[in-house]
Amino acid sequence: MSMVKLAPSILAADFARLGQQVAEAAQGGADRIHVDVMDGHFVPNLSMGAVVVESLRRVTHLPLEIHLMISAPDFFLEEFAAAGSDSFLVHCEGNNNLHRTVQRIRTLGRRAGVAINPATSAAVLEEIVQDVDQVLVMTVNPGFGHQQFVRATLPKIGRVRELVERRHPECEVEVDGGIDATTAPLVVRAGATVLVAGSAIFGDGRGVRAAMDALRTALNDTKPAEWSALQRSQRCSSE
Ligand code: DX5
Ligand code: ZN
Repeated sequence: MSMVKLAPSILAADFARLGQQVAEAAQGGADRIHVDVMDGHFVPNLSMGAVVVESLRRVTHLPLEIHLMISAPDFFLEEFAAAGSDSFLVHCEGNNNLHRTVQRIRTLGRRAGVAINPATSAAVLEEIVQDVDQVLVMTVNPGFGHQQFVRATLPKIGRVRELVERRHPECEVEVDGGIDATTAPLVVRAGATVLVAGSAIFGDGRGVRAAMDALRTALNDTKPAEWSALQRSQRCSSE
């Protein structure tokens, strides 16, 4: 399923061998590397800062996608951009000036995306989706890797897809949390085209490449066409 992109999340990687793990993900055909940044405030966990991005930038050409799970993203954008970040995913929750944050990311010349938590409605994207390159639907509550996929987010992925098709079809619909060979086909059928996966890729005993192959194999018979066919027929009937 070449249309679906894989974004390995290094939160589940072996940090003592991070460069090697990212190289393995690149060999496995990763489309980008997902970097989870946590501040112990927006989420109850700490992870990594811009120094990690700076080190990774020296060893990989893959785009580095920074998922900011922090209370004050605006303060850190420049530092992360200077470290070599290619894109930023910022949460709408707790951000009273989301549009400003997105514009700051644009001013820095980086791709911008907005993330929504499981309890946040797809509707919050209505007035921002036209300004972003991607949206991130959290399929777990942010803060930790290796959590169970929240199934109630599936219909929301469909609503986000519908919104994107209507307002900004080039925008990517990405999902994050609990993605493995079982849940990957479900989210793709619902409308996702970019899958973040941490433990399913770096926590698989068979190795990173084999794990990525297994995810792709699971997607082999999955047709992401259900929503696009639906949209096409709706467009045709309204023309
Ligand atoms: C969760 C992070 C995820 C996490 C996913 O807060 O945003 O990116 O690394 O890990 P898995 O794939 O193990 O659920
Ligand atoms: Zn993430």
